[in-house]
Amino acid sequence: MNAHEPIASFDPMAPELITDPYPTFAALRENDPFHWSGTGYWVVSRYDHVREVLMNRKDFGTGDFERNLSAFYGPGFRLTDHPAYRWLSEVFISQDPPQHTRIRGLVTGALSARRVRAMEPRVRAICQELTAAFVADGEAELMAQFAYRLPVMVICDLMGIDYHDPAIADLVAGIPEAFVVFEARKLSAQELALADRRILELEAFFLARFEERRRCPREDLLTSLANTESMPDGLSVHEATTVAIALFGAGFETTANIIGNGLYHLHRCSDQWQALVADPARLAASAVEEALRYESSLVATYRTALQDTVIDGQPVKSGQRVLTLIGAANRDGRKFADPDAFDIRRGAADHLSFGGGIHFCVGAELARIEGRVTFEHLATVIPHMQLNLQAATWRDNFLFRGLTQLPARW
Ligand code: HEM
Repeated sequence: MNAHEPIASFDPMAPELITDPYPTFAALRENDPFHWSGTGYWVVSRYDHVREVLMNRKDFGTGDFERNLSAFYGPGFRLTDHPAYRWLSEVFISQDPPQHTRIRGLVTGALSARRVRAMEPRVRAICQELTAAFVADGEAELMAQFAYRLPVMVICDLMGIDYHDPAIADLVAGIPEAFVVFEARKLSAQELALADRRILELEAFFLARFEERRRCPREDLLTSLANTESMPDGLSVHEATTVAIALFGAGFETTANIIGNGLYHLHRCSDQWQALVADPARLAASAVEEALRYESSLVATYRTALQDTVIDGQPVKSGQRVLTLIGAANRDGRKFADPDAFDIRRGAADHLSFGGGIHFCVGAELARIEGRVTFEHLATVIPHMQLNLQAATWRDNFLFRGLTQLPARW
């Protein structure tokens, strides 16, 4: 596929979207910026259009969740039969104002800027602990031994959950299986059954933690979420549970991937790694922004038109869905000069990798701290690291873009 070929039909399951989605994204952006997919939704790929949809809360939102899913599963589909979709429909990520406004306000109150900034020394200590376990070996598999561990340890710390609790490893392993419901496609019966089971496990786990926090409050995020129950319009225990699952899941998968994706491109363009090593304290923050722009770990999100509307001259009817390709928007040459070059000195923080508008990522600040501290730490402690880029393969997941493994030697 090259940028001049039209797209017959966009298929999020196409294998080339896993190996290298960017030629398809370029073809969409240049030839078919409002692509009507064969399975019934608009695919939007230019930066200005993606941003416009995300920012426009009047015309775009979640819409009728059950009706949207009926487009994939048929008219007999019932949300209440599927705990995983029921959870997704109830969590604030999928809600429109005023419900979204109420819950998001309570979440950002609990996940306050002060609480997040206070995590930085802890993130440094976790980086230290993780690398100390393998630095003398001269080699490591960085996804399993570092990228996946750090964000889980950080989110567990923040929530006040014991990372060494044996239940945690199983819950973490189940997140990708549960979060498959975020994908805009019909899931197989097995995928759906597994997602349902995983969400029920997560609900049971967090319900039990909230019970404990009510009996014995602590200085942690779960206690702050539980405390909102006594506020006017506070979170019910059920709502707090849906939020905790979202923070727990979203808090590690995307962050682990951005660490892996960033390290991959820093080494693919080895002059960029050398630049970071020469001045880690100054360049780590902009390296994170470039990793986010260049290889976003959340490739797309979607909205439903709440009324008939128009995007840059393209009519969109009430009830139609729009897939906003963040990964394509971030490589739009109309917005970013030389967009396919990975350049950590670019300093472009206006990528769309954390979304935009009312659903802008609530964990963006935490993810930025984790990424910056990681890049600075690794460039300082293991400056001569070499990655086996041939062994790094992309996970078979269109929406959450990340590597299965990233072997390194030094
Ligand atoms: C590099 C890491 C991350 C990336 C790329 C990312 C990306 C995103 C994006 C694109 C959205 C908007 C989705 C939409 O508009 O439909 C979002 C929302 C969200 N993110 Fe993140 N995220 C990251 C890290 C985190 C972390 C660390 C947390 C939690 C601690 C988190 C929790 C959330 C939540 C709860 C929302 C929903 C906000 C709302 O609906 O108001 N994310 N994220």
